[in-house]
Amino acid sequence: MKDTIILVVTGSVAGYKAAELARNLAGKGLRVKVAMTSAAEKFVTPLTFEALTGGPVLRAGFPQPGEEPMAHINFSRGARLALIAPATADILGKLAHGVADDSVLSMLLACGLPVMAAPAMNTQMYKHPAVQANIALLAERGVEFVGPTSGALACGEEGEGKMEDVETITAAVMKRLGGERDLAGMRVLVTAGGCREPIDPVRYMGNRSSGKMGAAVARMAARRGAQVTLVAAHMETHLPEGVALVRAYTGMEMRDAVGDAFPRCDILVMAAAVTDYRVEHPAGEKVKKKDSMSLDLIRNPDILASVALEKGNRVVAGFAAETEDHLAAGRKKLVAKNLDMIVINDVSRGDIGFGSDFNEATLLTRDGRKMEIARATKDSVANAVLDEAAAIWRANQGRKKPEAAEAS
Ligand code: PMT
Repeated sequence: MKDTIILVVTGSVAGYKAAELARNLAGKGLRVKVAMTSAAEKFVTPLTFEALTGGPVLRAGFPQPGEEPMAHINFSRGARLALIAPATADILGKLAHGVADDSVLSMLLACGLPVMAAPAMNTQMYKHPAVQANIALLAERGVEFVGPTSGALACGEEGEGKMEDVETITAAVMKRLGGERDLAGMRVLVTAGGCREPIDPVRYMGNRSSGKMGAAVARMAARRGAQVTLVAAHMETHLPEGVALVRAYTGMEMRDAVGDAFPRCDILVMAAAVTDYRVEHPAGEKVKKKDSMSLDLIRNPDILASVALEKGNRVVAGFAAETEDHLAAGRKKLVAKNLDMIVINDVSRGDIGFGSDFNEATLLTRDGRKMEIARATKDSVANAVLDEAAAIWRANQGRKKPEAAEAS
């Protein structure tokens, strides 16, 4: 039996591409059912989609007497996925806030399906904080975004906001449907969040990590079928579901937690911002205010470097948080810590990195490959990282113990 997918078309000039998308998806052996908002009908007609899919289109208006009253519930029955393409700022905002003011939105809220979305809008609209916040909220709830990309937009401007091309969206849908459990059987250990070192019972030394990047890696790995252990320090985000959670707040606690879980993992991804130093003798009582004070700091052990000594065929991946000479600094860490791969991100930018719902990175591998991961939600970046880690793990199977990389 064919897999069914719901294609939700919204009001955008890119609507005409949805017709090609429907044809492409059907060409992959899927049964495509189309739902259209009333704005979508200003750009392309339901008849086009009825002709392409051979089935009725769910239209936005509420059913008239005599029409099926429960269409918004029944339309999606038996489907495996809902894809919104093109996805306007309007539908993303409504979906993020649970608005169900027509049959299409009601169907989206009631369907209980995994949702993918391919945004299409003007650059300024896309970058508007409200739209970015809606995208982040939806991504956190599990909506998978494909694109947008940069290019010439219908409004005559050039920039981010162009709907991803039809082939790429089709490939992402097929991957989600077919490869959903592609990490089944793998044990993935992830670290996330910012470690904090006590100075006294009320003060600490810490960093700006929110834990969003590590949480995204854990969430995506679990969604793709892996058995996931998340070692979490201080987190300012929802903890992902379906993972075994271990709390480790200081650098030494994280060292112990990772050391304990490492022998039982196949892939380690360290996205946590581990404190490089700790206060040698934290005060037992709150330190009284003085004009100045000094702290004796001692170096925390390097967790990655120490577990990588015993890595065998496991894949060990680190993140590099850099503010200058990113590539050179990241490459140095890759070698010095004996990693299989490192994900270098620029933490001096406000629109990615610390605290942001988005990231952009350069991925370097032990065997000299370099991949650019374009700015995208942290879930998308996490998937790219997991794709590479899983590919290395598969390649490692059956190989003898890899040699330690030569330190420079
Ligand atoms: O948490 P978010 O707000 O989402 O932000 C994400 C992030 C910017 C924190 C994340 O993408 C990131 O870059 N994480 C790594 C932060 C870091 O500590 O980078 P580093 O370059 O100092 O360390 C390199 C690697 O060594 C990291 O994988 C780190 O976990 C690891 N490390 C560091 C120190 C230490 N003592 N032991 C370690 O294993």
